[in-house]
Amino acid sequence: MYKSKIIGVGHYVPDNVITNSDLEKLMDTSNEWIVERTGIQERRHIKKGSGDSPSTMGTKAAKIAMERAGVTADELDFIVFATLSPDYYFPGPGVMVQEQLGIKEIGALDVRNQCSGFIYALSVADQFIKTGMYKKILVIGAENHSGGLDMTTRGRNISVIFGDGAGAVVLEATEEENSGVLSTHLHAEGKHAEELAMIGPNTGNWVPEIMASDGKDLSYYPNMNGSFVFKNAVVRFQEVIFEALKTNNKEISDIDLLIPHQANLRISQFVQQKLDLSDDQVYNNIMRYGNTTAASIPIAMSEAWQEGKIKDGDLLCLAAFGSGFTWASALINW
Ligand SMILES: CC(C)(COP(=O)(O)OP(=O)(O)OC[C@H]1O[C@@H](n2cnc3c(N)ncnc32)[C@H](O)[C@@H]1OP(=O)(O)O)[C@@H](O)C(=O)NCCC(=O)NCCS
Repeated sequence: MYKSKIIGVGHYVPDNVITNSDLEKLMDTSNEWIVERTGIQERRHIKKGSGDSPSTMGTKAAKIAMERAGVTADELDFIVFATLSPDYYFPGPGVMVQEQLGIKEIGALDVRNQCSGFIYALSVADQFIKTGMYKKILVIGAENHSGGLDMTTRGRNISVIFGDGAGAVVLEATEEENSGVLSTHLHAEGKHAEELAMIGPNTGNWVPEIMASDGKDLSYYPNMNGSFVFKNAVVRFQEVIFEALKTNNKEISDIDLLIPHQANLRISQFVQQKLDLSDDQVYNNIMRYGNTTAASIPIAMSEAWQEGKIKDGDLLCLAAFGSGFTWASALINW
């Protein structure tokens, strides 16, 4: 039986740094408020005209992951791309990455599960490898949030949190006994779909109708019930981490590194404290990038790997919660 092993990880973020004091000039907010409530000090925003987009950033992250894996584009069997902010309404960015990498006719799948998107994408790729259908799969998470945020005081509860970037991994089939993705766990609770969402434009309320509202219809900006999201996140993170450990007969103390989706530093710290994890067992980089949704886990994984915080044989736990609501975890023997 095959397992999936992560053989390369990479990330790319735009070089345009937006600090909290930059945001103070655009809206009624403060560095103190943002740091205290979210832990975020700065984030990256795509500069208009730079050529960066979810697909091009995803391709840049993918090239780094492939180089580290020692894998060339023509060896890949499949692409899975997770994002909530695709280049186009359709087609999704998976096919664009395929074209940008110059690969001929392999399948490219797009995953729409927001902050849990990367783990959902990893899980899908893992199933294809376990069945023996594919041997090498590229999994990408990338977001362009800054293009669609309300950068006025009206949107401040959301726009200070989110940032742009991309991360990618190369998965390879392995028959090694205790190596690779041990299990993935996916959940959703659609009754809360509108608590964190961008509703418009949608097929029932299309662009001309929004334009005809004379600026009253703001459904094209994301909306979030922040405290409700927070309360659900801290519970679901813990549940799904325990589910992964229980499935594999592991304890909290077995985790070498937890990489939580970088939603909010307060959420990660709450979960760390509840699980009694040491600082060394949890990786956070939200201070520098904000919440990059589907990109946050692979960006964090790539940085942690670069910093020597992920070593061969380590037990890695990934966990995420976000819009949908969706939540997910993965346990990996590196
Ligand atoms: C968004 C979040 C930081 C807001 O913190 P909070 O303590 O819940 O704050 P509230 O939304 O209750 O707002 C408190 C006050 O701060 C204000 N406020 C909101 N955003 C602000 C900002 N950027 N700067 C200054 N003040 C702000 C609100 O208007 C409100 O003012 P009021 O009391 O005069 O009405 C917090 O709810 C959160 O982190 N939620 C989870 C978000 C998340 O993780 N989302 C991604 C999930 S994947």
